[in-house]
Amino acid sequence: MGVLDYDALRRKPVEELTREEAAIELERLAKEIAEHDYHYYVENAPVITDAEYDALRRRNEAIEARFPDLIRPDSPSRRVGAPPAEGFRKVRHAVPMLSLKDAFSDEEVYEWDRRVRRFLGLSEDEVIRCTAEPKFDGLSCSLRYEHGALVLAATRGNGYEGEDVTANARTIRDIPQRLHGPDIPEVLEIRGEVYMPISSFMKLNEEQQKKGQKPFANPRNAAAGSLRQLDPKVTAERNLRFYCWGFGEVSSMPAKTQAEFYDYCRRWGVPVSDLIELHDSIPALLDYHARMLERRPDLDFDIDGVVYKVNRFDWQERLGFVQRAPRWAIAHKFPAHRGITVLEDIQIHVGRTGALTPVGILEPVNIGGVIVSRVSLHNEDYIKGIGADGRPIRGGKDIRIGDTVVVERAGDVIPQIVDVILEKRPPDAKPYQFPTRCPVCGSKAVREFNPRTGRLDAVRRCTGGLYCPAQVVERLKHFVSKRAFDIEGLGEKAIEQFFDHKFIRTPADIFTLEEREKKGEICIHCLEGWGEKKIENLFRAINARRRIALDRFIYALGIRHVGEVTSRLLARHYRTIEAFLAAMREIARDRESEAAQEIDSIDGLGPVVVEALHNFFNEEHNWQVINQLLEEVTVEPEEVPAEQSPLAGKTVVFTGRLEHMTRDEAKDLVERLGGHAANSVSRKTDLVVAGPGAGSKLKKAQELGIRIISEEEFLKLVGLDS
Ligand code: IVH
Repeated sequence: MGVLDYDALRRKPVEELTREEAAIELERLAKEIAEHDYHYYVENAPVITDAEYDALRRRNEAIEARFPDLIRPDSPSRRVGAPPAEGFRKVRHAVPMLSLKDAFSDEEVYEWDRRVRRFLGLSEDEVIRCTAEPKFDGLSCSLRYEHGALVLAATRGNGYEGEDVTANARTIRDIPQRLHGPDIPEVLEIRGEVYMPISSFMKLNEEQQKKGQKPFANPRNAAAGSLRQLDPKVTAERNLRFYCWGFGEVSSMPAKTQAEFYDYCRRWGVPVSDLIELHDSIPALLDYHARMLERRPDLDFDIDGVVYKVNRFDWQERLGFVQRAPRWAIAHKFPAHRGITVLEDIQIHVGRTGALTPVGILEPVNIGGVIVSRVSLHNEDYIKGIGADGRPIRGGKDIRIGDTVVVERAGDVIPQIVDVILEKRPPDAKPYQFPTRCPVCGSKAVREFNPRTGRLDAVRRCTGGLYCPAQVVERLKHFVSKRAFDIEGLGEKAIEQFFDHKFIRTPADIFTLEEREKKGEICIHCLEGWGEKKIENLFRAINARRRIALDRFIYALGIRHVGEVTSRLLARHYRTIEAFLAAMREIARDRESEAAQEIDSIDGLGPVVVEALHNFFNEEHNWQVINQLLEEVTVEPEEVPAEQSPLAGKTVVFTGRLEHMTRDEAKDLVERLGGHAANSVSRKTDLVVAGPGAGSKLKKAQELGIRIISEEEFLKLVGLDS
């Protein structure tokens, strides 16, 4: 290629461009337009006129029309929308997207500070500098940049696996297509919140109403609905914005602190809120909380609290995570919004474990911008005014139909009744009689005696089991739900419809729907609302889930006390479905078996889970469900962490004093390296780390011939011996 006159090239008419020249021009235009987007949207300071900007975009489009195969993945034209997708591809996050622990009072913030100090072994007068940030109420999104170019945008999903919304994210002008500035890591995952400004939300709702469509309940739902659009053109029409609050995978992080990271982001062109501050003490953080609460009504975006983060990254790394939240950060929430309304009715919902849950039906009331018409009433004691500890709550007031009640709504949590205004009680209101039979199947509903508390369970359960249609339907709903099999197009309504028509009874039936429909054994297209296209999409969505991760599979079974976290722990421990089921067979036979003890020794699991697994796997019909299911789906083995760590899959016990780290820190390190930290030594223990003062555990380890090392050797083993 000869020497190019770039200046002449940018003026050359599109029709005269050679292919090679077109490619060069497209690259230049992508960069330039991205830069102008940055000036316009991030800095709020455009450097060219709108007409000039439009001319750039038009030239880009004209070149793309002539050479469609040269359209770049970071093309500015993608910002007005790529062709609609058929569904969202699932993506596993390289680094999980976890959540934050909440604090609702000053005291809880002080407690957090004490925990941090204890964990790091810092004295009271050591300064722990923290960022103070708004807690944006939108939906989190992870943006992956490789060599500075946006290659993937993913929603949070269940934290481990989200949805690929790249085409949509490209239409959000706040989100840079490419980064510029210093020290851009080769791989950089920017994490932050996609939100809709309140002003745009109001406008959108006006338009929705004009079009006769349902308005969105709040800006957050509007943002979620707009980002998860199969047609990116719709996303492009909605004014979505983005604020960064963190990062996922980073090949080499140039910053040493959270604040420095934000400074880099600003230079890279990533929007960072200018409401973020740095403070050196808890009182200063609490003052920030008070100031933000005051400013909240004036902001053009929703915040539901503030977040404090330990500024130093080396401390963040040492602090690590507990359950699903970082120890180095805390969300200090704002007080909940409240409203007053009338309780019109109490309905009983039967859940998948047979629990009878009372739901309060309210005269709809606007509470902090959200229309509330239902509240959870928990259980019959709660309605009577008796708390979990058996003592009266709310001053012993019972809740009656017809009562005027104070309702509180905090974030995403189901609204609660916090008070009853007795002065307004209708004279004929009677105490509520909780049913003693299941309202769905008529079986007896009982409160089991709980030997651990010595009291009756607060929850009344239907004894119908799989005889009770409500329980079967709820199990099926759970099975297809987002965090389980996540079958798009098979929502709660569809499950009910298919169940009513006897198309499905067990989870495996879902996977044979297509075959049976084609053979004419069932007739989905005879049902109302099921057109050809919709059925086709449903079958595609079902077939897309014939491979599933082990943790999702376990979670989908809907075993009592086995939620997402427990499912993950189990999957990480057993790695394959075969190993998992083999252990379950043992536990079903004997709740004292070695397999049961093994579960007991996994940090985070205990006798409650063992008991629940025993009960579930002791039922023949549950094995039937699983075996039928396994004929239809493949359960993928849990991946062993890519970098084989020396502790992957190993069970480690610490005993005696540790000199270089706290006990919590040590255990956390083991978990992070793919191992398990257990409290007691057994035949399953692989390694014992013994410090001064070690006693009986050390002795037992010696007896069992388990490898014993010192703290120094342990640090060397995990590569921390600097
Ligand atoms: S930091 C490891 N900072 O709140 C998770 N999160 O409850 C670190 N959020 O999923 C999260 N504003 O979607 C962080 N300034 C902020 C935030 C923020 C909003 C959201 C985010 C996260 C959720 C956690």
